Amino acid sequence: MSTILNVVSVEKYYGTKVNLKKALDRIQFSVNVGEFVSIMGPSGSGKTTLLNCISTIDSISAGHIYINNEDLAALPLEKMAAFRRNNLGFIFQDFNLLDTLSIEENIALPLSIKNIPAKEIQQSVQLLMQQLGITDIASKFPPQVSGGQKQRCACARAFINRPKLILADEPTGALDSVSTGQILTLLTELNRQEQATILMVTHDPLCASYGKRILFLKDGHLVKELHRGQMSRTDFYHAILSEISALGGEK
Ligand SMILES: Nc1ncnc2c1ncn2[C@@H]1O[C@H](COP(=O)(O)OP(=O)(O)O)[C@@H](O)[C@H]1O
Ligand SMILES: [Mg+2]
Repeated sequence: MSTILNVVSVEKYYGTKVNLKKALDRIQFSVNVGEFVSIMGPSGSGKTTLLNCISTIDSISAGHIYINNEDLAALPLEKMAAFRRNNLGFIFQDFNLLDTLSIEENIALPLSIKNIPAKEIQQSVQLLMQQLGITDIASKFPPQVSGGQKQRCACARAFINRPKLILADEPTGALDSVSTGQILTLLTELNRQEQATILMVTHDPLCASYGKRILFLKDGHLVKELHRGQMSRTDFYHAILSEISALGGEK
């Protein structure tokens, strides 16, 4: 199995000497191509910081992060941005869609900023919208559709480029339970059928149970790893719940 992400002894501090906050403490793990990994932990444990460091939205204080064997922090800014564009897909809790673009145009955005013929872009977008069941809202604008539909659109936008790694921060945090189930099923399908590698942050055990492996963060430390193995999702969910209680509760 080849490694897509390698996080080596990563530390992240916020603030200055008098007001120093260690958000990540010697975090170390790797993710193989095609994995679906959930990162769990209570509020303030460092989940978003970790994801932002991996995506180079934030900078690390020590250690290394390799994506596809590339140390992103060592790249000049322009190359870093290009690497991010070509290799990473992002899904956020609050969708981050552009309200002035239609659903279709939002999905096409990662391709539009590359030099790809319009016809090719349109074909890829059409195909993916069919797959995700959002063809009927193609020409609507984000404010005109539901939260679940917005997040479907955001998933399509994250995937249209066929990125090596999809990073999702609480992707269902703003959704009702029905839409949550649909988005998680969608991510599972992208992972299974399209071999998309997914790293998803969530504080919700049910959401986390869709992953194949869980990394538990607590106070900036990686304290535990759980593998789903041959477990059903329900059994995995219960295993996650007992792990959370063993680690001292969620909140
Ligand atoms: N920009 C920042 N400046 C100072 N402290 C921060 C900043 N971002 C996060 N933190 C602190 O780092 C810790 C981890 O935060 P975060 O990664 O957002 O946690 P989570 O996503 O797990 O809720 C928290 O104690 C938070 O207050
Ligand atoms: Mg967070």
